[in-house]
Amino acid sequence: MLVAGVDSSTQSCKVLIRDAETGALVRSGSAKHPDGTEIHPDHWWSALLEAIEKAGGLDDVAALSVGGQQHGMVVLDGDGEVIRPALLWNDTRSAEGASELIAELGEARGAGPDDGTRVWAEQIGTVPVASITATKLRWLANAEPENAARVAAVALPHDWLTWKLAGGSAAGLEALATDRSDASGTGYFSTPRGEYDREILSLALRRDASDVVLPRVLEPGASAGVTVAHGAIPAGITLGPGCGDNAGAALGLEMSVGDVSISIGTSGVVAAVTGVAAADPSGTIAGFADATGAFLPLAVTLNGSQTLDKMCELLGVGYDEFDALALAGEPGAGGLTLVPYYQGERTPNLPHATASIVGMTLAGATRENLARAAVEGLLCSMADGVDAFVEQGLAVERILLIGGGAKYAAVQAIAPEVFGRDVWIPDPGEYVANGAARQAAWVERGELPRWDVSNARRVTAEPNPATRAAYADRRHLYAER
Ligand code: XUL
Repeated sequence: MLVAGVDSSTQSCKVLIRDAETGALVRSGSAKHPDGTEIHPDHWWSALLEAIEKAGGLDDVAALSVGGQQHGMVVLDGDGEVIRPALLWNDTRSAEGASELIAELGEARGAGPDDGTRVWAEQIGTVPVASITATKLRWLANAEPENAARVAAVALPHDWLTWKLAGGSAAGLEALATDRSDASGTGYFSTPRGEYDREILSLALRRDASDVVLPRVLEPGASAGVTVAHGAIPAGITLGPGCGDNAGAALGLEMSVGDVSISIGTSGVVAAVTGVAAADPSGTIAGFADATGAFLPLAVTLNGSQTLDKMCELLGVGYDEFDALALAGEPGAGGLTLVPYYQGERTPNLPHATASIVGMTLAGATRENLARAAVEGLLCSMADGVDAFVEQGLAVERILLIGGGAKYAAVQAIAPEVFGRDVWIPDPGEYVANGAARQAAWVERGELPRWDVSNARRVTAEPNPATRAAYADRRHLYAER
């Protein structure tokens, strides 16, 4: 029996077709998404259709599940039409909306406006930042009140694609479905309680939103229905509940308690699977749910692999040459410290920050050290996330490095120096799509299969705490400003 897993990510759509029993990869396809932080969902749909076609169609596939970028705001009118392009997780226009909602929920729950972060952490699991869907709805209410008034349903990227596969508007808004992992990133779903908090939806939209349809939250392993025929998609394929991409990666890596993944993609994500919901009032750790019924605390940065891409561009080199330069740089990058907040930052919450490089001397400012500083800066920002996990008492036993940025030899070699811990490098692969495919197999077979496709390899190095100390000094200046 074959199953398909989809990763509709920020940059592209990937489809993997695997054997449900062994996990063996049978075929795959992918298609690009347009750039930008505001995208019409129709682009995701056409990329999904193209990727399915490139993967040889779905005629022999029994079940399919969709993993997707989290938080994107898909607003639908009463006819199921998309009202405006979706605001993505990395669109920072809603930063003010986040501050407004923190204060307003604090007040609404009798805790006072200054105690809002604690109320959010305890009752919802997450202190909102600009990435969280609720803040995007608040932006809509502030900036486009006429559109906010038309909202009849709100979905996330993976919910909307699953719904389209099941017939979309012809199936009606009530057919929308999601799962705990993605719902937990909306801001209007309480991770500890496992249910929507509709008062927050009304606050966000600045109106009574009791009639707004939210996708049904399916149990792990439950079906979201079946496909209707469309292009290379035959009718009757079982649809899995789908998941947020980070929960998909955890499922694809078959992570267990003590494993911490660091994913260097468009975002940088530190994530762990835990048995208890996280509640961090500092907002560093978002208390999301995973796709198996457990929890998935995350620390997420806005600046992932683009930190390396940008330095390749500035140095005028390709990936291989960049790798060679960074590996030839000195530990500590000859005194250069790069703080990679190119697009503002989410962790720490500095939506309007910019990146910086300091510490240039005539001797130290070489191309090699610049490349090395980009790698060290990116890894230091991820290491801050790991520290936050340790401070919250979460088990950090094995760090798994994945995502496009983890393919660089320099990142693999320097990571254990910066983290002060060994790292494990799984085989390069599409772990989000793997997780979605495992979910599809779970729905079709009634149990979650073990595939063990990651073959993680251990990398060791002498820790270099001076690099982190220099970075921390610089980061403190941002917080002070
Ligand atoms: C998670 C987050 C990102 C997106 C990127 O909170 O914002 O990891 O899911 O795909």
